Order: sequence, then C-alpha cells, then structure tokens
Amino acid sequence: MQLKVFKNYQEMSKYASQIVLDVVAKNPQCTLGFATGSTPLGLYGYLKQACKDGTSFRDVSAFNLDEYVGLDASHPQSYKYFMQHNLFNELDILPQNCHIPCGVATDLQAECQNYSKQLAKHTIALQILGIGGNGHIAFNEPGTSFQSTTHVVQLSPKTIADNARFFDSIDQVPTSALTMGIGEIMKAQCILVLANGKNKAQAVFNMVKGPISTSCPASVLQTHPNCIVVCDEESASLLN
Ligand code: PGA
Repeated sequence: MQLKVFKNYQEMSKYASQIVLDVVAKNPQCTLGFATGSTPLGLYGYLKQACKDGTSFRDVSAFNLDEYVGLDASHPQSYKYFMQHNLFNELDILPQNCHIPCGVATDLQAECQNYSKQLAKHTIALQILGIGGNGHIAFNEPGTSFQSTTHVVQLSPKTIADNARFFDSIDQVPTSALTMGIGEIMKAQCILVLANGKNKAQAVFNMVKGPISTSCPASVLQTHPNCIVVCDEESASLLN
C-alpha cells in the first residue's frame, strides 16, 4: 500500500486526477471503476476539465460501485443521477458503456447477479474508492466477507447517519443498497483510495495500520498488490 499525503483537498484531487488520466492515456479503451460521495468530486472536476482540454473518454467503460435501493435515475440522491450530473454529462463517455447497479429493479438478487456477470467480462484497470467513517468500501459494511460479490446490503446506522446530510431528513435515507462486493473490488489492477477531512482520520488509520479484519473492510486493501491511498493532512493525522 502506497500512501501519499497532500496539504489540502485541492492538491490531493489534482494528484489523483493525474493517476486516472495516466491510465486512460496508456489505454484509451480501459475500464474504470467510479465512486460516488463527496470525496471524489474534486477529482471529477479535474477529469471534466481534462476532457474539455482534449482527453477523450469515448472508448472508456465505467462501472460504479453501488446504488441505493428504491431511488431511480431521476432522484437527485441516486448514484445514477450523481454520476450523470457530476461527471458523465461532461465527458464524451458513451452512455451504453456506463454501468451502475439498478436500485429499482423488481428482482434485486437477479440485478446483483447480472451486475457481477457484466463486471466479470471486464478487468478494471483503476478502481476509485472513498472510505466510510466506519471503514466501509463501496457499501460493504463492517462484517462483510472479503470474498463477497455484488449483493444487497442493509446500511449500518453509522452510514445512514453519515449520508443524512445529502437528504432533507434522516428518514429519507434509504436503508438498503446494492453494492459491488469486496472480492470484485480487489480484482482491480490498481486501486486508488481517496480520503479527506478529520472525520476520516480513524478510518484511514485502521485501513493503513490496523489489523486486516472484516471489522474494517478497507483493511483488506493492505493485501492488494497495487493500492494507492491519496489523502489530505487531516485524514492522515493519526498516521506518523
Ligand atoms: P464520502 O463517502 O465521500 O461522502 O465521505 C465515502 C464513503 O462512504 O465511501
């Protein structure tokens, strides 16, 4: 695990964008794994600018990590909506190459199996990840098997509370989601973890220095052969 600490969010986002752009430059037909949440927004800003400046994503395929159960693409807090409005609409990526699990599928188990099947046809060259305050990666909450594939998950009270800031009230936060599994995330050739802010300091410490345990899902990343953690000084403050 490689650790890069930057003075602030802007600098870490810029550095992270260079990692993504290098992967695309090397293989314009690559598959990228995207994350939602507030952490990657700075990175996405730089990717949109790069596209304006001439980098093409026309041949890139995208797989997102997760989606809330019950929210469709028109809901502003759905991850489909998030990706359209925060990234994809301003890239020349083709809509048919952008994959996000469907949170309103009538058969959620079948949707998970289908997502795993689509995923298995691709090799993710670079997976972008945030980290939850409880150490989750995607919506793989503490206790999730390191071998898991795409599945339906009941969100933990901590995750629901953390995400309530995006909704009018905590009652509106969906209590379940579809998430790519840890086993699938670990198959990515390279994993880029982003973290910022002091509310992530304990999770970053547990990910980097803690025991490898399902009680901190992100700790599994210590065993990945090519994982880069890019963070700001605040989120790295418990590491020396
Ligand atoms: P955040 O979420 O980027 O909004 O902090 C990260 C996560 O929960 O994985």
